[in-house]
Amino acid sequence: MSESTITVSDEQVAFFHSEGYLVIDAITTPEEVVWMRELYDGLFAERVGYDDGNQFDLAGTDEEGSDARLPQMLAPSFYAPTLRDTIYRANALEVARRLLGPEAEFRFDHAILKPAEAGAETPWHQDEAYWDPAIDYDELSIWMPLQDVGLENGCMHFVPGSHARDVLPHRSIGNDPRIHGLEVDLVVDVSTAVACPIPAGGATVHHCRMVHYTTPNLTSEPRRAYILSFGAPQHPRDRARDFYWLRAQQTARAERAREARERRRAAKAARAQSRDA
Ligand code: NI
Repeated sequence: MSESTITVSDEQVAFFHSEGYLVIDAITTPEEVVWMRELYDGLFAERVGYDDGNQFDLAGTDEEGSDARLPQMLAPSFYAPTLRDTIYRANALEVARRLLGPEAEFRFDHAILKPAEAGAETPWHQDEAYWDPAIDYDELSIWMPLQDVGLENGCMHFVPGSHARDVLPHRSIGNDPRIHGLEVDLVVDVSTAVACPIPAGGATVHHCRMVHYTTPNLTSEPRRAYILSFGAPQHPRDRARDFYWLRAQQTARAERAREARERRRAAKAARAQSRDA
């Protein structure tokens, strides 16, 4: 297993708790970034996970034959297990445990690609708006670009301190329930937002209730981000919330995921039957 090579200062921990985000100059090595970039491009080129509903267009209707404006892949390390043993992952776990406490664990990974010259913006949102409204979360995402990022190709923007709010009302992007991606359905004051341009292999960290945004990619190179999420132990909430925007969604991705579950169930039943025969 890769060992962590990173130290997180008490000042960084305090900054994360008060501001809700953190910028890290280097969370892995240049060599690992180069290796990962090739693997990453292959996963998207081959649309790995598409049939399971795990690769889809975050910002479009994701129908067969249409070009994705913002391709997203869930669980890349499920499909490419070598991603589980990386310096990035070891360092990210160390960062998460410093920020959330020693019980913090890996939750999931995903990748968001902004294609060259056409990569859409990711509108303002809070990650927790995608999750189970009955659970109390203390989680964070570590967002690592595989090339330098700036305003022109989709760097991260945060509203400092916004993680102290509960989840704001959201809706599907453009109020189109066929679209998986969410946006805050409210005029939010982003006048205090900070942009975080960082080098390849650096990272930004944000709390699951941080209001955040990334710019479109207007450059001639794709913008690749690989994201790891970690959480402290989850608890059921005392007071339920209603994330009605999730109930309103009808996405092609969810339909593919449902069909994949059906296929797995049918295959399992067939195996059981052949054993009993
Ligand atoms: Ni997000």
